[in-house]
Amino acid sequence: KIAALRQQLTVLRDERSHENQPAAVGLVPTMGYLHEGHASLMRKAKEQSDIVVLSIFVNPIQFGPNEDLDKYPRDAERDLALAEKLGVDVVFLPSVSEMYPQPTKTKVKVEEVTTRLCGASRPGHFDGVTTVVTKLFNIIQPQKAFFGMKDAQQVAVIQQMVLDLNMPVDIVPCPIVREEDGLAMSSRNVYLSAENRQAALVLSQSLFAVDEWVQSGEMKTVGQLRDRIVEQIAGVPTAEIDYVDILTFPGLTEMASDEQLRNWKGKAIIALAVKFGATRLIDNRIL
Ligand code: PAJ
Repeated sequence: KIAALRQQLTVLRDERSHENQPAAVGLVPTMGYLHEGHASLMRKAKEQSDIVVLSIFVNPIQFGPNEDLDKYPRDAERDLALAEKLGVDVVFLPSVSEMYPQPTKTKVKVEEVTTRLCGASRPGHFDGVTTVVTKLFNIIQPQKAFFGMKDAQQVAVIQQMVLDLNMPVDIVPCPIVREEDGLAMSSRNVYLSAENRQAALVLSQSLFAVDEWVQSGEMKTVGQLRDRIVEQIAGVPTAEIDYVDILTFPGLTEMASDEQLRNWKGKAIIALAVKFGATRLIDNRIL
């Protein structure tokens, strides 16, 4: 319960205070069905905070009507065991009625950075994310919150929200954790058939081929590189491209297709969303 959690955190903050400073809380927000990607965030949180809070909540308002809310994989028992093993201090696992006792009439909406990539393919998704993350920040009041670059747009959106609304939280982005063969870890990978699990390797493989294509001078412009990645992915029969985009990061604005890759000084993101059967996977790389 939220009230009990607040009480518990007040006690812990006080108990673990040092030199008259209250203990620092690090929050790792998740939807559960935890894997090594989530574990890396918890380890980072442990290093950088006095108290680690893990939240597990499959947030209904960030799913579209035809998305996988009902099917989203869950295993609270296994998640709790992993959290304990990693030394998480508090797990917040609220019910939907606890988080949304009545339909929410207030939403937090970030503009512009939410319009492209997943924001374009999943209308309303980021409003659901920023709204629930705001609620979690208000409930837990962490000093730091840890997010994975697997969802790079989510990081950009949350950083923008924190900046715009003066939220007193440090957002700590954490690197993408991959399977040994390169596939970015995701709770949704369990949906993949053996055949599509193999086919999905094209995502990381094309992201990692980029260095060679660019360094060899084979791909000179943003447009050429994008076309080459599309060609690579489209070569896999079961891959259905949702988007392949190269944008500035973290602003997520368009880059001219004749922009020379070698001269580009800022940060850019190559972001992919591809469906394999019914499963939509995302991956990205920052250049
Ligand atoms: P979820 O998909 O469970 O992810 C929780 C956190 O784990 C996110 O910050 C995500 O980027 C990170 N993560 C997932 N896979 C990762 C990987 N392979 N490597 C590194 N980090 C990874 O993202 C959400 O939940 C929700 O939108 C949430 C922020 C909890 C709001 O409901």
